[in-house]
Amino acid sequence: MPPASPPKDCPLCPRLMAFRQANRGTFPDWHNDSVPAFGSLDARMLVVGLAPGLRGANRTGRPFTGDYAGELLYPSLLKFGRAKGTYGVRVDDGLEMVDTRITNAVRCVPPENKPTPAEQKTCRPFLVAEIAAMPRLRSILVLGRIAHDAVLSTLGLRKAAYPFGHGVVHSFEGQLSMTDSYHCSRYNVNTRVLTEAMFHGAMNQAINAINGTA
Ligand code: URA
Repeated sequence: MPPASPPKDCPLCPRLMAFRQANRGTFPDWHNDSVPAFGSLDARMLVVGLAPGLRGANRTGRPFTGDYAGELLYPSLLKFGRAKGTYGVRVDDGLEMVDTRITNAVRCVPPENKPTPAEQKTCRPFLVAEIAAMPRLRSILVLGRIAHDAVLSTLGLRKAAYPFGHGVVHSFEGQLSMTDSYHCSRYNVNTRVLTEAMFHGAMNQAINAINGTA
């Protein structure tokens, strides 16, 4: 089994490697490497996003940190007690996750926020290893359809058996569940596909699912 995180300068996706190298030239002070997950492997809840944003996680080196999506995700995690401290939009803000880990379906920034199906597949073994390395995991909150599909294939489950639906809690074997949310992207928030109330609703479901009360 590979490690739960790719190496910093992961060579597996040629297009993402080339993009990273170009970004190192343009933005030499940025992280510009695969972005490691945030939070303990002992957590009972895992949030799965899509991929680092160019000017956010790829710049700062922490999932969702500096990305528009983090402006909704981190305050929501704080509100529900899944994080403590202050979200200061930087890796050294002292923010701590509480019984929660955040990862991405694809660990390196893709051009235009769009990883190809081949890149999603190539990155999958890291999610497989990460989930396998979380012995207490009970609840997975997936942000968007790509994360939803990534978790299903990680668990070896058929997509047709678990259709995506915002706020839907899918129960699996072994006390594990997956709650779907629309991705908290700028586009979804600005078009009101996802409101703050809807996002809080899905997060609340995922938290209740930790204890099997969703
Ligand atoms: N930043 C991330 O790290 N992941 C996302 O899915 C979006 C922004």
